[in-house]
Amino acid sequence: MGKELRNVVIVDAARSAFARGARGKLVATRLDDAGATVLREMLDRNPKIQPHMVEDIGMGQVGQASELAGIGADAVKKLAGLPQETSTFQTNRQCGSSMETLHRIAQSIMVGAIDCGVSLGAERMGRQLGGGGRGNQDRNRNEVHNEKLLQTSDLQRAPAPNHGDVFSVPFPDAILDQPTNASMLQTAQNVAEAYGLSRAEQDEFAVESHRKYGVAFDKGVYGDEIIPLEVETPVFDDEGNWVSAEVGEMVTFDMDEGFRPSTNMEALTNLRTLPVESYTDAEIMITAGNACPTNDGISAAILMSEEKALELGLEPIARVVGFGVAGVKQQFMGLGPIPATRKALANAGIEAGQIDRVEFNEAFAAQVIPSITDLGIDMANVNVNGGSLAIGHPLGATGARLVGTVSHELRRSGGRYGLATQCIGAGMGISTIVESMDN
Ligand SMILES: CC(C)(COP(=O)(O)OP(=O)(O)OC[C@H]1O[C@@H](n2cnc3c(N)ncnc32)[C@H](O)[C@@H]1OP(=O)(O)O)[C@@H](O)C(=O)NCCC(=O)NCCS
Repeated sequence: MGKELRNVVIVDAARSAFARGARGKLVATRLDDAGATVLREMLDRNPKIQPHMVEDIGMGQVGQASELAGIGADAVKKLAGLPQETSTFQTNRQCGSSMETLHRIAQSIMVGAIDCGVSLGAERMGRQLGGGGRGNQDRNRNEVHNEKLLQTSDLQRAPAPNHGDVFSVPFPDAILDQPTNASMLQTAQNVAEAYGLSRAEQDEFAVESHRKYGVAFDKGVYGDEIIPLEVETPVFDDEGNWVSAEVGEMVTFDMDEGFRPSTNMEALTNLRTLPVESYTDAEIMITAGNACPTNDGISAAILMSEEKALELGLEPIARVVGFGVAGVKQQFMGLGPIPATRKALANAGIEAGQIDRVEFNEAFAAQVIPSITDLGIDMANVNVNGGSLAIGHPLGATGARLVGTVSHELRRSGGRYGLATQCIGAGMGISTIVESMDN
């Protein structure tokens, strides 16, 4: 192409509050309408961005909520009043979907293919991850689960040649011998066992996440990123099912429902453990208190070339300076942020010690603690306003939320580099590094 890569900035990033999956405040709300409201509000608060300037909109989504099936970004585009000439696409990299979308938009801007684009994330989850599948019943022979996927070749099972450069511990053989379709909860237990964590330290981490969120919310920290929505209160029957024929009262939804102000060590210690196994005779450690909840939500980020943003007189919140995506053994899914962040740091040309703020998706306390330690990042800089154990993790919506949250926090705190990172189902990690606009 012979062109220089251009700087990319995040002009603005925002989201809905995250609701509890299947029983929260977004159950009776169409996510296409909610997405359009979030996007419209962002454009309204950045009036220098004219609708026709938004060239491409991507949406990261895993479960394909029916109102957002196909290219969900296209429904949001139309409902937000953007021109038909704005192109749209859909991305699925599981939990990393909207961060992947943000990377794709940023890369298009970097190479000069577009000047401005939007990364959306959306998800509508059930009460538990993986629940409600219809098994192999009534599926034709092309649709049933492929049993060959449970076999692992020697190459796939063996530690990667650079294992010792990436991780500080070997992975126990007893866990590597397990099939590669472990539940997300099981992968958290596996990671905790490999790194010798205790349940108490995971619970303490969770208590801190809720405490920090409560303090930050009261200080108005989330005012920059949560766009309040007027939503219909869902009516549930005695079994907790939504009664769609009934219409509840309209309320303002502006606070994440995963947050439990009463979270303390006593309450968490008393929670029963979830159905996972130990393959190394360790204690069972994973509970609903140290695992993220399931959620519904929307996230969005507007990206632009730095040159164009400055020409328009905009004041971007951060510059995108590095990306990384990496695979790991599926049984240790939660460790994906370690290699992904190492790649992103190399891509940005900086060291872990230069990172001032981290937004690390708390899928499980079990995976955040060892990842941060192995990366050599100061825990005091991680999730300073609470994390996903309190905020929630609506899979496809989380990535753009993390990049937005760390960008806003970097601006507030005056730091230079911010890292957003998350683990991904199937055994991956994804990371983004942003830099303050003051540098
Ligand atoms: C962990 C999980 C199975 C729990 O589902 P659930 O049982 O519906 O969760 P609940 O919110 O009802 O919590 C269960 C109990 O723990 C309690 N609890 C949860 N968090 C708590 C907290 N912070 N403080 C005190 N109690 C808490 C609840 O009050 C509830 O108690 P009850 O049964 O007496 O009502 C579900 O949230 C899940 O699947 N999470 C993981 C999602 C995931 O894997 N995402 C992808 C990651 S890569």
